[in-house]
Amino acid sequence: MREETIIQTHGLSIGYHGTVVASDIDLTVKRGRIVVVLGKSGCGKSTLLKTVIGLLPPISGTVEFDGNPVDFNSEQSLQRLFRRIGVLYQNSALLNSLNLYENVALPITMHHPAISHEIRREMVTNRLRQVGMAPEMERYPAELSGGMRKRAALARAMILDPEVIFCDEPSAGLDPITASGLDELMLNLKELLGITFLVVTHELRSIERIADDVLVIQEKSIRFNGPFQQLRDSSDPFIRAFFLRDKADAKELSS
Ligand SMILES: Nc1ncnc2c1ncn2[C@@H]1O[C@H](COP(=O)(O)OP(=O)(O)OP(=O)(O)O)[C@@H](O)[C@H]1O
Ligand SMILES: [Mg+2]
Repeated sequence: MREETIIQTHGLSIGYHGTVVASDIDLTVKRGRIVVVLGKSGCGKSTLLKTVIGLLPPISGTVEFDGNPVDFNSEQSLQRLFRRIGVLYQNSALLNSLNLYENVALPITMHHPAISHEIRREMVTNRLRQVGMAPEMERYPAELSGGMRKRAALARAMILDPEVIFCDEPSAGLDPITASGLDELMLNLKELLGITFLVVTHELRSIERIADDVLVIQEKSIRFNGPFQQLRDSSDPFIRAFFLRDKADAKELSS
């Protein structure tokens, strides 16, 4: 039976070369929900994502995916995780030397080299169509706008039918209309395909539109992990300041 909880961390401590960025992280991500990660710049949001997607070993603690602990020392365990997730990086991370078709096809080539040319073509075209980028498939990343690159990167993140998609500031640098188009795309993918999302974003409008659950990192630990509605109604002054966009208060409280 499929677990209701898709990602669970226990006493996770994250950081680089033994230097702790955040600790005591007990994160729960339920299947089919959109979880938004909040916190000020440098608090460790990207670091948490890197750890949960298997790219950065934790300093201590464990990450479980669908009930199984991820073994950061086992290539096999990491590959099993990589095949079940998709990632939209903070800077899109498309390869400049490859056109969009080739960029989106990359995970298939890497993880399923035996898939035929025809099937690969169908998979890639379908995904590019879903994000409205099929007409641009011959073009190179440098020839595209930031919003187009994000959509192409999302097509690549979706190519292997992932159960979870991780997005690091997907709407950074996008105009509000393109950003809201990306939000709609995530909501559609959640509703139609039951994909779970873990999304880092600062955009209040986006959070209000997409968040089912929220994770707030502050002062090197988790300040809140629960339903968005509960966060909205919270009387915590830091959280109130965030929603009121009272920058002075927020600055004072987070310093
Ligand atoms: N590769 C690295 N090696 C060493 N330290 C790093 C590395 N990447 C990030 N850090 C440090 O880890 C801390 C958290 O960085 P991280 O990128 O996770 O922040 P963030 O919350 O994603 O910030 P932002 O909102 O600006 O993207 C920072 O102090 C940063 O300097
Ligand atoms: Mg970041």
